[in-house]
Amino acid sequence: MVFETDGCDFFDVINTRKTIRKYTNEIPPLEAIKKIADAGRLAPCATNTQNWEFIAVYDNTTKEKMAQAVNDKYDELKEKLNNEEDKNKVNGYKYYSMFFSKAPVVFAVVEKKRVSTLLSILEKNGMTKEQLSKYDNRSSILSMGAAIENMSLCAHALGLGTCWMCAPLIAADEFRKILGLSDDDKVVTLLTVGYPDGADSNAQKSKKSLDEVFRLIV
Ligand SMILES: Cc1cc2nc3c(=O)[nH]c(=O)nc-3n(C[C@H](O)[C@H](O)[C@H](O)COP(=O)(O)O)c2cc1C
Repeated sequence: MVFETDGCDFFDVINTRKTIRKYTNEIPPLEAIKKIADAGRLAPCATNTQNWEFIAVYDNTTKEKMAQAVNDKYDELKEKLNNEEDKNKVNGYKYYSMFFSKAPVVFAVVEKKRVSTLLSILEKNGMTKEQLSKYDNRSSILSMGAAIENMSLCAHALGLGTCWMCAPLIAADEFRKILGLSDDDKVVTLLTVGYPDGADSNAQKSKKSLDEVFRLIV
């Protein structure tokens, strides 16, 4: 299948992208999934380390194992709460953490260990963890975000819907095991992908106006 992305207007893609949480049963072709991973690969990255991996999970058994891990974590968490109201509120988050298992494809976006040159020099010179945190500019996680946004926009340009999900990371350690990752790897996002189900009524979210978020210094 060849994708017609020529003539796809960049600003239109930005304007019309919205989070999609319900998908049809149609399975996105591998070619589209690879194109989305490729958009992640091309994102800017601090010091160009490219310490990322994009794992596309089609396999339902793997998705179900991941969802079960999230469910178990919520059960564990609820045990730690001492009133029903809070337990119900936490339960409310579950939907927003677990629907990924119903998506035709789920990307696990993995941050690989990256050693910051500056931080390792400072650590070698005796700085404590607390002192070091002041010099951590979080460039690695920002780079991951750049890749994920590239992927979301690319998927939308291809007619696919996505949901960028961090709530399931409550089970990030278990994901590492299920996906066969090493101890240094960190799943930082699940990105669901599928053809938007027309019944998904997620209207364009109200966004702050430009005036509210833009400040000019001249
Ligand atoms: C870092 C990040 C984490 C998110 N995590 C979740 C999540 O775990 N579950 C979910 O349903 N939506 C999640 N979202 C989607 C947001 O709820 C959504 O982007 C926001 O409501 C704005 O809607 P829009 O994407 O349609 O503009 C996440 C978005 C971002 C950027």
